[in-house]
Amino acid sequence: PEAGCLSIVVLGASGDLAKKKTFPALFNLFRQGFLNPDEVHIFGYARTKISDDELRNRIRGYLINDKSASSEKLENVSKFLQLIKYVSGSYDSEEGFRLLDKEILEHELSKKSVEGSSRRLFYLALPPSVYPSVCEMIRHYCMNKSDLGGWTRIVVEKPFGKDLESAEQLSSQIGELFEEPQIYRIDHYLGKELVQNLLVLRFANRFFLPLWNRDNIDNVQIVFREDFGTEGRGGYFDEYGIIRDIIQNHLLQVLCLVAMEKPVSLKPEHIRDEKVKVLQSVLPIKDEEVILGQYEGYRDDPTVPDHSNTPTFATMVLRIHNERWEGVPFILKAGKALNSRKAEIRVQFKDVPGDIFKCKKQGRNEFVIRLQPSEAMYMKFTVKQPGLEMLTVQSELDLSYVQRYQGVTIPEAYERLILDTIRGDQQHFVRRDELKAAWQIFTPLLHKIDDGELKPLQYQPGSRGPAEADELLAKAGYVQTHGY
Ligand code: BG6
Repeated sequence: PEAGCLSIVVLGASGDLAKKKTFPALFNLFRQGFLNPDEVHIFGYARTKISDDELRNRIRGYLINDKSASSEKLENVSKFLQLIKYVSGSYDSEEGFRLLDKEILEHELSKKSVEGSSRRLFYLALPPSVYPSVCEMIRHYCMNKSDLGGWTRIVVEKPFGKDLESAEQLSSQIGELFEEPQIYRIDHYLGKELVQNLLVLRFANRFFLPLWNRDNIDNVQIVFREDFGTEGRGGYFDEYGIIRDIIQNHLLQVLCLVAMEKPVSLKPEHIRDEKVKVLQSVLPIKDEEVILGQYEGYRDDPTVPDHSNTPTFATMVLRIHNERWEGVPFILKAGKALNSRKAEIRVQFKDVPGDIFKCKKQGRNEFVIRLQPSEAMYMKFTVKQPGLEMLTVQSELDLSYVQRYQGVTIPEAYERLILDTIRGDQQHFVRRDELKAAWQIFTPLLHKIDDGELKPLQYQPGSRGPAEADELLAKAGYVQTHGY
């Protein structure tokens, strides 16, 4: 790893994302020794006028959320909070960013004894509407100035725009100020353990190589469910809806990793080249292969307009037009206020040809990768039911992470991704052309929803979502199996 001063600036420091995700991830990195206190300083920047200590106190509550925190943790929290300084200013104010730069420079000078270059990481935990002005301010006032080299990088969160046009506009604005290797577009699903495992699973195992194609796979489902609604975020959510919030980014990224060809190497550019090819091969989504839903009570939120047409649930079929996947439906499904919280990939295989066991009724072979909760991978397959009769039954080969990797802590997605930004590894970040291709897929559908041409069906909170979604699944070829 490079040495030298490292200044991490969290913009939007008093917001939800920063408190719930960014600072806790930074703390975990600190606690595990990845942020050396001799080199690192963390700056919070936001409009609110508060003192360093006020910010520290606010953050503390998110770091220590249980009464049983160990003395080691408490001690580390105190040391970590001491690394944080607060600068207040608006997101388009020259003055604010000059002050920020001055604070960073002071930190860099105070660490003169640290050999090497200076590194500046700007984390934009902000709404995208202010990205252009913030990027401009950083570009003009806060770039790394060390003679010894180093870098300036920015991390941006989704949503990157609302459709193809606005995303491209945003990309161009930022692209004029920063080079692509300086821009880290976060999709936190790419930091999840089992999402990162997909490449290994697919390309380091002989088992899967010959099976992973249209000859053997009948359909693939990528599912995201949450058992809570948009509580407290109705205003934000209503502007975006479930497709922009979850499907266009998180689920589509997972689809890429499930469907892509083997990259030339593990170099970030090689991997992202393959992902782009998948995205470019996706056919236009057909209206009849989309079911939208909105849970009852969603509009009771005072920040949601009374006549909102925004979907909180969507199931749709994506079709990939290439040699490997022609004819295999990829079903993407996401919903809020459903009956459970789960994210999983279900790869369902075709029926055995010339079946002599009449085992069809047992269900098909299915390979399931559960991203959360309780990370696991399991294969459902048919075995002889133990006993005197020649009967068949569905069973599982189950790799459950808590059991298999006892005592191993699975890192939080944000923790891993922030470390990658410090190390300069863009493998798990979204490249500009990838983003464009992703918006190209969904923009026509999103415009139809925005124009009220497609309307969501109502569903009961706590249910499976609209029954029509299950019908669409069945039509796409999914056969409900038993057991898990
Ligand atoms: C965010 C969405 O990107 O992901 C939220 O904006 C959603 O609406 C969240 O709740 C889910 O993330 P996770 O990691 O809890 O599955």
